[in-house]
Amino acid sequence: MTTQISQALMEARSLTKTYEVSKGLFQGKGYVQALRDVSFSLFSGQTLAVVGESGCGKSTLARQVTMIETPSSGSLILDGKDVAGADEETLKIARRRVQIVFQNPYGSLNPRKRVLDILAEPLVINTDLSKTDRTDKVREMMAKVGLRPEFAERYPHMFSGGQRQRIAIARALMLEPTVIVADEPVSALDVSVQAQVLNLMMDLQEETGVAFLFISHDLSVVEHISNDVMVMYLGRVVEQGPKEKIFAAPRHPYTRALLSATPRLSETERKTKVVLQGELPSPLNPPSGCSFHTRCPFATAACKSEVPSLRDFDGRKVACVRLEEISD
Ligand SMILES: Nc1ncnc2c1ncn2[C@@H]1O[C@H](COP(=O)(O)OP(=O)(O)O)[C@@H](O)[C@H]1O
Ligand SMILES: [Mg+2]
Repeated sequence: MTTQISQALMEARSLTKTYEVSKGLFQGKGYVQALRDVSFSLFSGQTLAVVGESGCGKSTLARQVTMIETPSSGSLILDGKDVAGADEETLKIARRRVQIVFQNPYGSLNPRKRVLDILAEPLVINTDLSKTDRTDKVREMMAKVGLRPEFAERYPHMFSGGQRQRIAIARALMLEPTVIVADEPVSALDVSVQAQVLNLMMDLQEETGVAFLFISHDLSVVEHISNDVMVMYLGRVVEQGPKEKIFAAPRHPYTRALLSATPRLSETERKTKVVLQGELPSPLNPPSGCSFHTRCPFATAACKSEVPSLRDFDGRKVACVRLEEISD
């Protein structure tokens, strides 16, 4: 038997981010544990989807892995090197390898700049290319993302939402990154346009081998684009593994609830429908034990005291102490 071990482009080990916040007048300080112990590996040409409700820490994760923020603890391995908390010089080089596409295509592009200048900017900052070469590269990239190169002189407001997201993707690709973090990249777009942008991303991935960390609260979007899925709840990973495994037989009660609530997906047979109870608790004051216990139909006394660790189960990892009892 030959085992091929391909090196991950990016590896997160127990990434954790805690924010200090003021709880209000005379209330002192509180701590939001926005991200706790998140680990994953991302390989060339692969897409890892991160899913979960608003506030579960997805954008916080995006800011740690793009090195916009410094994690409170944990490691971020890029090209075999830990860059979490590295010096500015190391970060400057590392940041070129990991680019980001934001949700809002209206807010993320400078309205006063022509598309030509928006796309050329990373080249101006990071390369010695001449102006002519930069313009050539911009036009080439515009064609690649399905925009007419002659529109390079135009301003962002002259484009539709879908076209603007193509511009944002083009900008992310200008420095030939190995990883693109896409934080809800199609959530602000019309459903009819979403599929076009997702197809473009998949085509670009096939062509360039770029890896995506694809963040979404919408499981139907994730099903098309991902290889692996990571489900988050209140800053923690509750289930993580190959897409096929998770979509065919979600194991964590929270994953089951998310899938039951996705209309198109729930049409397929689901043995156990799980309906989410109650409201998402505040991450300022998360429940004890398993933080999902307040909304879990299977919760027992043990769930209130014991923090479940992620463990191997049925071809993926799941954090639930009652897994064996509740799985059929
Ligand atoms: N800079 C910050 N200071 C304090 N709390 C923050 C900060 N950024 C995010 N949070 C909190 O961390 C939690 C996770 O937020 P976020 O990562 O934006 O979630 P998501 O992207 O999944 O909606 C939320 O409770 C949010 O209010
Ligand atoms: Mg977010």
